[in-house]
Amino acid sequence: MLVSTKDMMTKAVAGHYAVGQFNINNLEWTKAILLTAQENSSPVILGVSEGAGKYMCGFTTVVGMVSAMINELGITVPVALHLDHGTFEGAKKCINAGFSSIMFDGSHYPIEENLEKTKALVNTCDVLGLSLEAEVGAIGGEEDGVIGAGECADPDECKMIADLGVTMLAAGIGNIHGKYPENWPGLSFETLAAVKEKVGDMPLVLHGGTGIPDDMITKAISLGVAKINVNTECQLVFQEATRKYIEDGKDLVGKGFDPRKLLAPGFDAIKAKVKEKMEIFGSIGKA
Ligand code: 13P
Repeated sequence: MLVSTKDMMTKAVAGHYAVGQFNINNLEWTKAILLTAQENSSPVILGVSEGAGKYMCGFTTVVGMVSAMINELGITVPVALHLDHGTFEGAKKCINAGFSSIMFDGSHYPIEENLEKTKALVNTCDVLGLSLEAEVGAIGGEEDGVIGAGECADPDECKMIADLGVTMLAAGIGNIHGKYPENWPGLSFETLAAVKEKVGDMPLVLHGGTGIPDDMITKAISLGVAKINVNTECQLVFQEATRKYIEDGKDLVGKGFDPRKLLAPGFDAIKAKVKEKMEIFGSIGKA
């Protein structure tokens, strides 16, 4: 059964660890992440961007696939199915489709509009028992065609959004989606501490988990980050493992062309990466 992130977030804040959001793209991704969470007794959040939702034939297909897989694989750890960087319309579609958690990203709107739209979704999600993530201060980089310049959130605006009663808050602290450039100055812990000071125990979300050094992750968790999103890093290890399989000519031997064989190294690579992240985030054994 899908659950909201509310309970996971409360426990993560109290226990000083973070739950990973791993984005899914297809059946292999979903299966790899669910099995890894189960094997390591970790709660997990499956992230779905609007683009990935479209690719997987729509949000109802995603809900059907994930729910059925939880049953068929005997997954008993808490699993949330979460819309990643949703538009207002996308959020409504995911709510109707049966997602258990929603991110409404209104960070590109003026703060008044972000507040107004987020508030409308707080009410709907509350009634339905869903968790809601809001965003203040755009995350930089490019994801699914959405390009953010990357800015540090205003702690006062974070407080305004937090006071609406959202479940968790993504505040820009110099993090960006995708690979970090060589000259990246690192996370702004000054901003994170200032946000934490304003929002208290509100679980904070760190986007752009790919490539953030472990010591920065640990420090961010100590300053209130309870959810960390990882997408690109799983894509990169999948690519690398698949490339190696083909470059080694394994697809040309026997039935090496069978997609179940062809995709297996990438599948295993995602599992290893997700486990590594769960270890760093401290969520292993917390289900
Ligand atoms: P990365 O692709 O940089 O890991 O970011 C993922 C993310 O933040 C999804 O919202």
